[in-house]
Order: sequence, then C-alpha cells, then structure tokens
Amino acid sequence: MSGETAPAADRPSVDTSVAHSARVHDYWLGGKDNFAADRAVGDAVIEAYPGIVMSVRANRAFLARVVRFLAAEAGIRQFLDIGTGIPASNNTHEVAQRTAPECRVVYVDYDPVVLAHARALLTTSPEGATDYIDADLRDPSQILREAARTLDFSRPVAVMLIAIMHLIVDADDPYRIVGQLMTAVPAGSYLALSQVASDIQAEQMAEAARRYNRLAHETQRHRSHAEVARFFDGLDLVEPGLVPVQEWRPGLETGPGTRSAMWGGVARKR
Ligand SMILES: C[S@@+](CC[C@H](N)C(=O)[O-])C[C@H]1O[C@@H](n2cnc3c(N)ncnc32)[C@H](O)[C@@H]1O
Repeated sequence: MSGETAPAADRPSVDTSVAHSARVHDYWLGGKDNFAADRAVGDAVIEAYPGIVMSVRANRAFLARVVRFLAAEAGIRQFLDIGTGIPASNNTHEVAQRTAPECRVVYVDYDPVVLAHARALLTTSPEGATDYIDADLRDPSQILREAARTLDFSRPVAVMLIAIMHLIVDADDPYRIVGQLMTAVPAGSYLALSQVASDIQAEQMAEAARRYNRLAHETQRHRSHAEVARFFDGLDLVEPGLVPVQEWRPGLETGPGTRSAMWGGVARKR
C-alpha cells in the first residue's frame, strides 16, 4: 500500500453504528474523524473518569518523546508502529525524520478509517521511507512478513505498541504476540509500549472499562503495573523504567499537573 490510499472500491466499509477505538481516541484528542456512536462512548468514559482526555494527550506526548529518544539517543533508524491511530500531531515518522531523515517507518492498524488516512502517514522525507500495513496485531506473522518490504530485520527495529495492548484481551494471548514480535528483531532493538492501567485511579478506571465494553466494538482489558511489566520480560528497561507515561523523561510540554492512567516504558533487547 505504498504512497497511496486504497481505491474506494477496495476499501472496507466503515460501520458508524458502533464505537471503534481509533475514532473514540480521535474524539478525545479533539479530532474530526468520529461519529455519534464514538462520541457517546467517549462521553460515557469521560463521565466515569474525567481524566481520560488528559491521559490520552499525555500518552501522545509520551509517544513523541519516545521516538525522539530512540532516534536521537539510541540511534534507531527503523520503526514498526502498530496501532497507529488516526493521524494526529507528531506522527512517528515526522518526529523520527526530524532527527534523522533516513528513518524508515512502517505503520500498522486494522481500522478502515485509519486506512483511509494512510496517505497522511506516507509523506516521507526523500532519504527515508514509510509504509502502511492494513493488518491485525493478533496476526504478527502477517505484520512481520509485510513489514519486511520496508524494514531490514537484520538491523535494529523499534517495535512500538503505544496504547494498543489494552485492546488485546487475555484470550488472544498478548504476551505471545509481543514475544513473537521481539523474537523477530535483532539485539539492539527496542520495545516501546504503553497500556491503560487497572491500578491507577482503580475504581474510576474499572467503571470506565465497564462502560466502554458495554458499548464499543473492541473489549478493553486494563492491566496492572506487574502485568504490563511482563511484556518487557527478558529485555532491559531504560531509565526511568515502567512509569505513568507523563513521568517518562518528561519534557517542557509536560506540565506539573499532568496525570494519566497509562503505564509506559521502553526496553532494549540484549
Ligand atoms: C487508542 S488508539 C492509539 C493510537 C496511537 N498509537 C496513540 O497512542 O496515539 C489504538 C489504535 O489501535 C488500533 N487497534 C486496536 N486493536 C488492533 C488490532 N488488533 N490490530 C491492529 N490495530 C488495532 C485501533 O484501530 C486504534 O487505531
């Protein structure tokens, strides 16, 4: 799918009658690519956990700081960003190529609205490359096969799973999925991951999940610090470890009052 959005006839249709995570997330971020069903779920969650808007924004800022760290300090030049979301500010390739124009970025999402916006994600610097794969994280083999069109898996890759693992329920074996992705990349690669917490603002988050799961297409599974830490098993977490996303190497944009209910961390493969 390089450089083009899919022709209209090939595009899967968008079901606007039920909320989808990409569009609910877009609503919380102040975007325009959402429908009444998405806004209804978004508002129901805001009512249960008023901090959600600050939380998703703090997560988005985390994503940008992580990519900057990986490109500028860790020397990473290849990114596999799974669960991309509807393009917002500071998309992965924009941040990475600002530091190193030769960065190569592959985006993956399974939502037809994200696919429809793929063109915005495919504007690369001339020295680098971007690609978009319409695929489901629950099939990592397909992702790895198609990503090899753009990424060289004999060189380090940053696997980015930012705010997606809470949408992978236990029955889909989330630890196996992350393990398979990290097995496919060489030593010196990184895992960057954030996930909605079950043990920050626990009561509000439990109610938020109940509301979301009653109304939306996907089911959310919030996880504790220990459950999220397990995704990094066998990898070396870089400082400051697994922390609320706003505490991960905070930048000037992170105001002192910023809060989130998201755990985030970055780890290097030995
Ligand atoms: C909450 S948004 C996060 C977007 C972005 N990573 C960010 O942090 O700003 C989650 C994204 O993951 C995508 N997603 C959820 N489950 C998925 C799956 N099984 N396979 C691929 N994409 C998935 C959704 O379509 C949505 O775009």
